[in-house]
Amino acid sequence: MADVPAPDYADAVEAALGALELDAKTRLLAGQDMWSLPALPEIGLRSLVMSDGPIGVRGARWTADDPSIALPSPTALAAAWDPDLARRAGRLLAQEARRKGVHVLLAPTVNLHRSPLGGRHFECYSEDPCLTGRIGAGYVRGVQDGGVGTTVKHFVANDAETDRLTVDNLIAPRVLRELYLAPFEAIVETARPWGVMAAYNQVNGSTMTEHRHLQNEVLRGEWGFDGFIVSDWLAARSTAGALTGGLDVAMPGPQTVYGPALAAAVRAGEIPESAVDAAVRRVLRLAARVGALDGVGPAVPEPPAGIDGQALAREIAHRGFVLVRNETVPGRGAALPVDPARVRRIALIGAAARDARVLGGGSATVFPERIVSPLDGLSAALPDSALTYAVGADPSPELVPAEKGFTLTALCRDANGRVLGEGSLPGGHIQWLGTDLPDGVTHEALHSVEVRGRLVPRESGEHLFGTRGLGSFRLTVDGEVLWDGAQALEAGSDPFGAIFGAPAECGRARLTRGEPVEVSLLHTVDRAVGGPLPAIVFTLLHGEPRRDADELIAEAVEAARAADAAVVVVATTEQVESEGFDRTDLRLPGRQDDLVRAVAAVNPHTVVVVNAGSPVELPWREDVAAVLLGWFPGQEGGAALADVLLGAREPGGRLPTSWPTTLADAPVTEVVPTDGRLPYTEGLFIGHRAYDRAGITPAYAFGHGLGYTDWRYESLDAGADAVTVRIRNTGARTGREVVQIYLAPLDAGEIERPSRWLAGFASVEAAPGESAEVRIALPRRAFETWDEDANAWALRTGSYEVHAAHALDDSRLSATVEI
Ligand code: BGC
Repeated sequence: MADVPAPDYADAVEAALGALELDAKTRLLAGQDMWSLPALPEIGLRSLVMSDGPIGVRGARWTADDPSIALPSPTALAAAWDPDLARRAGRLLAQEARRKGVHVLLAPTVNLHRSPLGGRHFECYSEDPCLTGRIGAGYVRGVQDGGVGTTVKHFVANDAETDRLTVDNLIAPRVLRELYLAPFEAIVETARPWGVMAAYNQVNGSTMTEHRHLQNEVLRGEWGFDGFIVSDWLAARSTAGALTGGLDVAMPGPQTVYGPALAAAVRAGEIPESAVDAAVRRVLRLAARVGALDGVGPAVPEPPAGIDGQALAREIAHRGFVLVRNETVPGRGAALPVDPARVRRIALIGAAARDARVLGGGSATVFPERIVSPLDGLSAALPDSALTYAVGADPSPELVPAEKGFTLTALCRDANGRVLGEGSLPGGHIQWLGTDLPDGVTHEALHSVEVRGRLVPRESGEHLFGTRGLGSFRLTVDGEVLWDGAQALEAGSDPFGAIFGAPAECGRARLTRGEPVEVSLLHTVDRAVGGPLPAIVFTLLHGEPRRDADELIAEAVEAARAADAAVVVVATTEQVESEGFDRTDLRLPGRQDDLVRAVAAVNPHTVVVVNAGSPVELPWREDVAAVLLGWFPGQEGGAALADVLLGAREPGGRLPTSWPTTLADAPVTEVVPTDGRLPYTEGLFIGHRAYDRAGITPAYAFGHGLGYTDWRYESLDAGADAVTVRIRNTGARTGREVVQIYLAPLDAGEIERPSRWLAGFASVEAAPGESAEVRIALPRRAFETWDEDANAWALRTGSYEVHAAHALDDSRLSATVEI
């Protein structure tokens, strides 16, 4: 796919800048609300609207009013190892953004998988800078092909969530260059992003929004980045520090360190107006690019033609599924794909098989129009008599936002009880930030919000109810008040902790399956709760009747025994993987491990599907016939799963990150700062580089993944700047192989280097018997290291072994090159 040529907007930008007074300029650099910059009609500038990102485009409201296509998690996209697929994902998202009036997508997230404990692991691509950079570049190109801007984030080293607003990550210059900056550099160089988002955290003593060295000298100076830098939300902390440190736009607004505060600083002589002008120029260039500045055409006059979002979501899901184990089942051949002639009855098991977790939590949340669960997907693909379903184990010991069986709206009233407005709700979670309120409602007039509606119980028994959030609440179910009181949360904590943190149970009600009841949660707004912008954030929580865990497992075991094959879907929960906090272990929540063991003990054809955005321990993995890593598979995940289990499609994924056997084996397990500092003591050794050095074999190696056909690597022709690999599909069906190229230095040299690293890759499809040839470039950078003394890249000459591999631990051919 060809790149879009970039028009030069210099004249238009200068003319617009020249027509602006200082106050207008500084207003333009500050959010006017949660998601947008002010319009400046005097220069024909429309309001620039931004929105999260990365798996869909939420739009300027945190509601389900205007649903979004939800693609699989970034880990899944990266697992396809295909920058062109990422580009197609980006093009779809641009189409979504345009539909919703969004000019800039707050994505992609290209921080690295430093530790599997990182709470936003699911939202990042990989532990490897080369893979991350290539996927991120494909994504950025795609979004910008559609004329929509990106903000590559979070610049830089927002690799964990604990104390993310303040943590000072101490990282050696070489490590920064070779690992954490590398994806940003590759994306800037190859995809020319129109934006970058400055992270919350500090790096080596300077908060990122003020990091003059990294923002001005490295990103802009060395790499030639010509886009705008926006703060992460609420990350801009000082007026002069941020502006002179390179930050162009402070979000959200209206209360920011820019705007009037910036104008005052210029007038006081603390900041030269020329520095403001430089930032304004960059915002105006962005506006011109996205078509929000009158008088000049947008960078993309004609965005790509309509893309079918559901079809692409399904394709990315099966392209990203990683089949890590596929054993032979006696009398049946390989466990997957399931052969319908021999497998007539499938027992589908697991809470997540019915209530799939299709996306991770936090700002990446979008509200899809539909969700195809594994149960939906398999039910559609199989005759009724072929499928049974059992819950087996409930991974959510905690309450979850009211959703399944609920129909809810939010009624907003003033202090006199007068209704100001009403908002539709996707579930029990309300998140109205700044002016993001239902029509007719203002924060000034708003006194109470009542979440009310009906629950049609899916099960009979004692249902659990609760709330999350600050302020006072009255919870009524079926006419009975279950709770009336106030909830206080710790001051000074991450706002996301308050929003997505631990739920509190408030009461129980005995309900009957199928018999509707009225539910109401009345929240009185607490004016004492301060914050940088007015916000209404609380949740009505619900839990299904608790059933005896042993009984549930016994039921599933009976179902598995009666079936020819069992498919168990295991999952993490919202309490495990989300923005705002890190994980503390890698175990599957609840009794899911016991469930898998019990099912596998009675059915040798047990397939486990892992519905998690990041690694979890799979202690039973050698005892089951197949393990398929499904990530957070997006809205069409269940349909894609049926495709793959039944063989209509091949699982196309390869691991973008080493999968640890246990947390203790993972290279980096410390994500909690001490005295505000988090030293990256492991240096260059994260992910597979660390496993290699420690001599530890992970459960599944980086790059590992099985398809439904076999490949023979026939030849490798290696030069210093490219390799050519010929492979042949020796199996019985068409398939796709990801050819991975690793470099291993043969000369030890003076400086410490990993024993091998990924230098390039290509994904190629071939029919049975057919061969395919791929040429994979070896960039000079693959042979360089950062020389801290010279403050420059240095070529490391000598002999290198080049491996053409199916996975890091499965090299098929090798050759030597001299550099
Ligand atoms: C996240 C960003 C996100 C922003 C706006 C922040 O909390 O770190 O990734 O784009 O919120 O939702």
